[in-house]
Amino acid sequence: MSDDTTGPATDPILLSDALSTFDALWSPRIVTRVNDYDVRAAKVRGEHVWHVHEDTDEFFLVLEGALEIALREEGGERAVTVERGAVFVVPRGIWHRPSSADGASIMLFEPSGTSTVGDAHDEVPAHVDATTGHALAL
Ligand code: NI
Repeated sequence: MSDDTTGPATDPILLSDALSTFDALWSPRIVTRVNDYDVRAAKVRGEHVWHVHEDTDEFFLVLEGALEIALREEGGERAVTVERGAVFVVPRGIWHRPSSADGASIMLFEPSGTSTVGDAHDEVPAHVDATTGHALAL
């Protein structure tokens, strides 16, 4: 595939191949781009960090396992479980903390340059990669 991470990939990408290129947790790879959005793949386990994206919604698709997303909404805190094959969008401006007790593989769809820890966040633990996504090395 192209290693040009500024535009769409030039060949089809098998997501299982993409996921096999890395083991790092909470450290998304940019699989391809759509206009000014990244399609990112990540492996996750344990807890991410509470954070908020003030200006963008954040799309999740669970490929393997299950993802829990805690949300701080006006009415209080709640958590949604996003099962394999399910999608969920965290609206902009909503503090959230993804987690997965047993581990999961996920895809994210969000504007290029979006930080994994948002515009504001609690203290970032060592196991969380604060990044705007890494190039996929296929
Ligand atoms: Ni987020």
